[in-house]
Amino acid sequence: MPSTPVYIVTGGAGFIGANLVAALVKREPDAHVVVIDDLRKGSYANIVEAFARAGLPAFTGSVTPQSVADLDWDQAIEALEPKAVFHLGAITDTLEFDEQVMLRANTEPWVEILSACITSETPLVYASSGATYGSPPQGEQRVPFPVEAAGSPNNVYGFSKWLMDAEVFRLFREREEAGTALPHVVGLRYFNVFGPGEARKGKMASMAYHLTQQMLRGDRPRIFKHGEHARDQVFVDDVVACTLAAAGLGSKPDPTPGVYNAGSGQTTTFNQIVESINAALGTDLEPDYIDMPEAMVPTYQHYTCADISATTKALGWTPAHDPCEATRAYAALLRDEAAKSAPLRA
Ligand SMILES: NC(=O)c1ccc[n+]([C@@H]2O[C@H](COP(=O)([O-])OP(=O)(O)OC[C@H]3O[C@@H](n4cnc5c(N)ncnc54)[C@H](O)[C@@H]3O)[C@@H](O)[C@H]2O)c1
Repeated sequence: MPSTPVYIVTGGAGFIGANLVAALVKREPDAHVVVIDDLRKGSYANIVEAFARAGLPAFTGSVTPQSVADLDWDQAIEALEPKAVFHLGAITDTLEFDEQVMLRANTEPWVEILSACITSETPLVYASSGATYGSPPQGEQRVPFPVEAAGSPNNVYGFSKWLMDAEVFRLFREREEAGTALPHVVGLRYFNVFGPGEARKGKMASMAYHLTQQMLRGDRPRIFKHGEHARDQVFVDDVVACTLAAAGLGSKPDPTPGVYNAGSGQTTTFNQIVESINAALGTDLEPDYIDMPEAMVPTYQHYTCADISATTKALGWTPAHDPCEATRAYAALLRDEAAKSAPLRA
C-alpha cells in the first residue's frame, strides 16, 4: 500500500468529476488524485476552478489524457494501488444518437474496469443515471422512482448506463448464488445535477444554468408549456457527498454494495426554477412558454423523482440542499461570476 492515499477519478476533468476531485483533496489533503479523462468534453479549467471554489491550494495530482477504453486497468491498479476508483468518464451528450460511438465509450470498457477493481479488492463507485428509467409508470403516477423501475431508457445514453447496471446485477446474482460476499461496487443513478462547474457542458448543462444565463441577459426564460414538468434536480455538492459516501468516505465506513438513486428526493418544476432565479437576481421575468417539438413528445421525461430511501439506508447519506434554495444561491453565484473577469480559456 503506498503511504500517500491514491484515488483514481475517471472523467475527473468534467463537471461532477472535477468537483469530486476537489472534495477528495479537501477531505484528505495529502491524497494523490489520478484523473483519467480523454478531455473530449472535460478541461483542465474545470479542475483549476473547482480547487479555487473549494479554497484549496493548486491541484498537484496527475492527469492521464486517455480514454478509459485504452487503459490496461489491471496494470494501472497494480501500479497505483488506489484506495478507491470513481468511474465517471462517459459521453454525457444525451443527443448523441450514434449508438456505436456511445456504447464503445460508455459500456465497452466497463467489464474490464469492474473486473480489475474486483480482483484487486478496490472499492469502485460508478456513475449511472436517472436516464436508465426512461418513462416508467411511476412518472405517470408522479411518485418517486424505486431502483427496480429502471430498464426501459428513452435514449442510447440511458441504455449505455443501464448495461453497466445490468452487468453489476448479473455479477451480484452470481455471488449471491455462490454464497460469496459482494464486492465493494456501488452504482449511483445521478438525476439532474446542477451547480458550479457545469458551464463547459454547453447545451447539456442544467436548466438552472441555461435559464439563469437567459435571465441575466434580460430575456424572458423559455420553457415548455406550461412549466409544470417536474424533475429531480440535485445540487452537485450533494451528489459529490453521495459519491464519497458510496466509497465509504462518508458517515458510514461500510456502505452496502448495490445500485442506488442519487437525487434530491424532491421534484422541482421549471416554473419553480424560474421563480428561484427571479428571487436571486431581483428580477420579475415571466416565462415565455413554448411548444415542445413534436419529435420530443414521446420520449420526454415529464416527471422524474428519485426514491432515495435505499440510498440513505445503504450509504448513510442524505442530501443537504433544498433544490430551490440551492438554485437561488447558484443563480446569484453565476450573476457574480458574470460581473467578474472572463472565465479561464478552455
Ligand atoms: N450531470 C448530470 O446531470 C448527470 C446525470 C446523470 C449521470 N451523470 C453521469 O455523471 C458522470 C459525470 O457527468 P458530468 O455531468 O460531469 O459530465 P461531463 O461531460 O462534464 O463529464 C464527463 C467527463 O468524462 C470525460 N470522458 C468522456 N468519455 C471518456 C472516456 N471514454 N474516457 C475518459 N474520459 C471520458 C469527458 O471528457 C468529461 O470530462 C457521467 O458518467 C454522466 O453520465 C451526470
